[in-house]
Amino acid sequence: MTALIEQLLQQRIGMDIRSVGQQSLQRVLSGELQKFACNLSSYQQQLPQSDAMWTSLVEAIVVPETWFFRYPESFRLVAELASHLLNKQDGTKLSLLCLPCSTGEEPYSLAITLMQQGYQPHQFQIDALDINTKVLAQAKQGSFRDYSFRGCPAGLKERYFTARDGLYQIHPEIRKTVNFRYGNLLDPASLPPKKYHLVFCRNLLIYFDQDTQQAAVRQLRQLMLSTAYLFSGPAETGAFVKAGMVSLTQRDSFAFADPQKQPQLEPAKSTKATTVSAAALKTPKMSPAKPAGQTGRPSSTRVLPQAAPVKKNTSLLDDIERQANQGQLTQALALCQQALIELGPSAQLFYLWGLLSDSLNQKGNAEIYYRKTLYIEPLHAQALKQLAALLRAQNDYAAAERFEQRLNPRK
Ligand SMILES: C[S@@+](CC[C@H](N)C(=O)[O-])C[C@H]1O[C@@H](n2cnc3c(N)ncnc32)[C@H](O)[C@@H]1O
Repeated sequence: MTALIEQLLQQRIGMDIRSVGQQSLQRVLSGELQKFACNLSSYQQQLPQSDAMWTSLVEAIVVPETWFFRYPESFRLVAELASHLLNKQDGTKLSLLCLPCSTGEEPYSLAITLMQQGYQPHQFQIDALDINTKVLAQAKQGSFRDYSFRGCPAGLKERYFTARDGLYQIHPEIRKTVNFRYGNLLDPASLPPKKYHLVFCRNLLIYFDQDTQQAAVRQLRQLMLSTAYLFSGPAETGAFVKAGMVSLTQRDSFAFADPQKQPQLEPAKSTKATTVSAAALKTPKMSPAKPAGQTGRPSSTRVLPQAAPVKKNTSLLDDIERQANQGQLTQALALCQQALIELGPSAQLFYLWGLLSDSLNQKGNAEIYYRKTLYIEPLHAQALKQLAALLRAQNDYAAAERFEQRLNPRK
């Protein structure tokens, strides 16, 4: 019945409707039919030509969930990378891309991170893009509710925001460093004709099917300078490794570099982490995306259906994590079952299992394993955040908030 709408969402913005669920689509559509006072068949007829209908549908179906300093490790890594660039003092303006930026918390977190590293506003530029014009308008306004600061470093609000009428207004000097504009990752004509030092693309690829994910990664690579770094969300790392990108070993930063564009990279000699020898940004350690002896080029045989042979010891969980970081999601998932038999249940295992299922777009299983994690460890922060985000993506706001409450019990 809704195949045409699903097809349009897939073609124009890459959305795989399975990522939010049929129920969400039905709920959104019933609101849209009411709003435009028409039935499904006339709605489907008008939608492809109507900008108003299309914009309204996109705004209703995409999930703008975000908050300040989400995945704090990635901002710590940005601070480290940025301080090295600043130390070079060659007058280069640091350029950052944040796509998608949603209501602005992520690009403003980047701006604050750079200012904390000693950058002056004229020394960097952040381009922040999204397809949802409503969230872009909110982002430009720079006014936030308490909720956007969940899990934030203490003192952040007081230092960079002015409290007004129960909202927090970002200081104008930070506001000016971010250039918000419309951009669709899957429509190159809508993207800036420019390359960046740091690219943030987090929690967008989770809504795409695998082919669209790979098209998106190709597009993102076009936007990266030769020494650039890219930051993804935790459930998206597989797509970047599958495309042959190199994962940085900093835990929970979900950062990548492009080996083919990184002449400074030493060739991967073993599956142990190697260091960037003379990289412009010297600190990050790299874990090669490919097993020993292989080049960094993407290969269709990277994600094999069968599990690799594994030692029967407690490093099984490390093996799962390593395979996941190498983009071998299917093998890693197969090892989870083996780990359950050999090692028994644990929060660490169930969380990895949930994350892998999430990455493979198996949302039902992801929810089950995040919940199992929380059964064993009710305050497992990462599982709480991932599960809340997953439930929000399915428009189950009440359940998402219940889990978020556990993270911030005083709210
Ligand atoms: C969950 S938010 C992620 C925000 C932020 N990056 C984060 O991780 O906190 C997803 C955003 O992706 C945007 N989006 C969806 N499809 C897009 C596309 N094809 N191009 C650009 N933005 C898109 C949505 O409008 C929404 O604001």
